[in-house]
Amino acid sequence: MKKILITGGAGLIGIDLCRQLLRKKFNVICFDLHEQIKRNENKFKEFSHNRKFNFFPGSILDRSALNSAMENVEIVFHLAAMLGVQRTEEQKLKCLEINVCGTENVLQASLFADVKHIIFASSSEVYGEPRCNPINELSETQGKTVYAVTKLAGEEYVKGYNQLNPNLNYTIVRFFNTYGENQVSQFFLTRVVRKIMDNQSPEIYGDGLQERSFCHVEDSCNALLKIIETNKSKNKVYNIGNSKQVFSLNRAAEIAINVLKKPNIRIKNIPFSSSDRSFNREIFKRYCDTTLAKKELGFEPRISLQEGIIRISTNKNYNQNW
Ligand SMILES: NC(=O)c1ccc[n+]([C@@H]2O[C@H](COP(=O)([O-])OP(=O)(O)OC[C@H]3O[C@@H](n4cnc5c(N)ncnc54)[C@H](O)[C@@H]3O)[C@@H](O)[C@H]2O)c1
Repeated sequence: MKKILITGGAGLIGIDLCRQLLRKKFNVICFDLHEQIKRNENKFKEFSHNRKFNFFPGSILDRSALNSAMENVEIVFHLAAMLGVQRTEEQKLKCLEINVCGTENVLQASLFADVKHIIFASSSEVYGEPRCNPINELSETQGKTVYAVTKLAGEEYVKGYNQLNPNLNYTIVRFFNTYGENQVSQFFLTRVVRKIMDNQSPEIYGDGLQERSFCHVEDSCNALLKIIETNKSKNKVYNIGNSKQVFSLNRAAEIAINVLKKPNIRIKNIPFSSSDRSFNREIFKRYCDTTLAKKELGFEPRISLQEGIIRISTNKNYNQNW
């Protein structure tokens, strides 16, 4: 069975991807920082003894670690990145180093190991503030934040490597707002759900009318599996998100209040000046068109926002912070 390496394998999307790949009997290597693997150890309990599963602690900034980890690997999911609006804006150089230099290191190591297919986790942030919604893959890209710029650079690197080395096929996945029970509480939905569970008002910056498509991580990983199951996905770019679960931030919080049965909780809209995202860096309306992924991959997300909120609320085993 194919050997697959996941960089950033101990993060939100990585953990679920490890689980789903092991169910399909692949050999899986979870490559991530030592401290992240340690922090999330309990989330791997159900499969950490599986003989097809291995951790490889290391950084994508360490070329020799990557070279050792990639021995006999056929497919690489490159998910490792620095993310979070506030974190990346405050530490721009670190973000550039991890997301751009790190991606180049992963590409170099993939080439060296004769990897056949690399799947690169890009982001809907590459579309900036779109001229119209829903956004398809042909829409104009524009980096509004350092994070978006690093993802655009990563995409170009991946394509450039393939041009020079056609045996290294790629698929670029632009994720739209993926959430899940293992997400740290800095992100919108997990933060809102946990505030409501603590009987506190969830804070939403701006007027809360910003619109997003919310995709549960299980659905996002299902798309990743479909990508490696078909040749059609080679050297393509796909939007992956849930185009049927589009809500304003206020509406998503109201749904959480209803689902969690806390009718007395009120949403608090706070000015951008006290939020993690400045007004200039905010994206006001952004949701996905996933027609291409449906047509070529058979991708159809199934988990509603309501169901996702229940899953977050019943998970006792979460990390508050990075
Ligand atoms: N979750 C989303 O909504 C979303 C949206 C768009 C794009 N993405 C992209 O998907 C990928 C996975 O995101 P996620 O939500 O699972 O985030 P996450 O923060 O949970 O996972 C990222 C992982 O990368 C690891 N990492 C960071 N620096 C590293 C380094 N130097 N070496 C090795 N590992 C390192 C982290 O420890 C972490 O486990 C990222 O590339 C992210 O940019 C996610």
